[in-house]
Amino acid sequence: MSERKMEAAAVATAPIGGGMRREPSYASMAEQDDFDLSRLLDKPKLNIERQRSFDDRSMSEFSIGGNLKVGMDGYDPAYSPGIRSGFDTPLSSVRNSFDPHPIVAEAWEALRRSVVYFKGQPVGTIAAYDHASEEVLNYDQVFVRDFVPSALAFLMNGEYDIVKFFLLKTLLLQGWEKKIDRFKLGEGVMPASFKVLHDPNRDVDTIAADFGESAIGRVAPVDSGFWWIILLRAYTKSTGDTSLADTAECQKGIRLILSLCLSEGFDTFPTLLCADGCCMIDRRMGVYGYPIEIQALFFMALKSALSMLKHDAQGKELIERIVTRLQALSYHMRSYFWLDFQQLNDIYRFKTEEYSHTAVNKFNVIPDSIPDWVFDFMPCKGGYFIGNVSPARMDFRWFALGNCVAILSSLATPEQSVAIMDLIEERWEELIGDMPLKICYPAIENHEWRIVTGCDPKNTRWSYHNGGSWPVLIWLLTAASIKVGRPQIARRAVDLAESRLLKDGFPEYYDGKLGRYVGKQARKFQTWSIAGYLVAKMLLEDPSHLGMISLEEDRAMKPLLKRCSSWT
Ligand code: GLC
Repeated sequence: MSERKMEAAAVATAPIGGGMRREPSYASMAEQDDFDLSRLLDKPKLNIERQRSFDDRSMSEFSIGGNLKVGMDGYDPAYSPGIRSGFDTPLSSVRNSFDPHPIVAEAWEALRRSVVYFKGQPVGTIAAYDHASEEVLNYDQVFVRDFVPSALAFLMNGEYDIVKFFLLKTLLLQGWEKKIDRFKLGEGVMPASFKVLHDPNRDVDTIAADFGESAIGRVAPVDSGFWWIILLRAYTKSTGDTSLADTAECQKGIRLILSLCLSEGFDTFPTLLCADGCCMIDRRMGVYGYPIEIQALFFMALKSALSMLKHDAQGKELIERIVTRLQALSYHMRSYFWLDFQQLNDIYRFKTEEYSHTAVNKFNVIPDSIPDWVFDFMPCKGGYFIGNVSPARMDFRWFALGNCVAILSSLATPEQSVAIMDLIEERWEELIGDMPLKICYPAIENHEWRIVTGCDPKNTRWSYHNGGSWPVLIWLLTAASIKVGRPQIARRAVDLAESRLLKDGFPEYYDGKLGRYVGKQARKFQTWSIAGYLVAKMLLEDPSHLGMISLEEDRAMKPLLKRCSSWT
């Protein structure tokens, strides 16, 4: 039975899409009989105990700052997670019996409630399980990006099947023909989300998926494919089972995703050109061009793919292209996206209209375009990757996801990673406030908000994507701070979150400059807020989990810049 057979009839079903609006959807459907996950699962299972995903390295070896001691809070080098729990027993909370925060058990229960089944197999978690909300919109779907923290929580708890089934299911969806009006999308595009529909009369499960054709703004999710690759590596690292990544299907899936990004064109930069709304911020917010979130995920996906691609004829060719691209990408990002006090001062003094290869101000950034806030925001110690760099345009906003992923993927040099953490500490109130952590800083207001968001009523200042605080991001902050050897940053953040999350019903986001208010239109029991918290807790309990979502720096990519004061 061919995967292409799953191409589907257009059916108007539940609303699907990146934005949260009720509208008819013309999603592809695949019937239960059309495909069978187990076909890909027939391979003999490796009987491998869960491996320490840390490559058995000690924490001190791994930490950049060198100040992460074996005696770090909660890290027990003698602990060896080898036991598999049943689906109902959170291994994490058993292990954590000395510190059983009441939220942990509640969070696991809520996470399990959100699990979605296809033909009886768990294939993902819905975005939110909010019965109080009158509008379901598309929060009853499995979003690829939202599932990542759920998947990590399950992997850390020794529950591998749901992750495996998710990876296989989305891989099959990738095989669908994707069309927007009369335009066909690239083969490699992964869905933003999918929904399982059950017909009780025929006892048949069907899938409806969205690749951007139903999303507000009709934008394809560039991040989905990258998260898929990153998750496949996490699964492989966590289980020690390479047989899934080695299947011809997974190898092809990786190749298709990356071929989309590595094709030659008119680009003069190694970064990836994107439309607004193609990632976590899935509506117009001025993140078009070369957004940091996508560049960091792109880098991480390329590196993850390198560790999984086979050196066969097709793999070899792709590997060469990946290596070349990684070098150019890391040079570009480390040179042009990096901002610290010294660099800001240099840009402030830039000459403009320089021509030829001797230009210092290569992109002709006009110093007058530097926003006032950044001069106050920039501490003497610290730095970050700015939001976007393109001709005559630097978006100086700080974005949480891109900066944390830059640390985890080693796109940031060790010195830059330390500087990013320094900045978070120096600007704690602005970036963490009362609820970790800001999706971006600062908010856009007034005239700028009108122009940049197109008057979006959901993205008003300090709300939602426009400077709102998103609990899900705690897992990324935690992972990054452990990698840099500063887990105390994560502890402080987790303590803050713990004081509110359960009481407030695990909201999707918080509003306000400090993130004190439950978001205007935030869902309750948002799955990734729940899972993000659990992942943060488990990482702090057992930092050896870090290996599944962290990549080491490659020596070949080390041309350090000289000018950053925050590096010394
Ligand atoms: C919002 C978020 C998006 C998320 C979706 C489902 O649209 O912006 O990142 O995937 O909700 O939770």
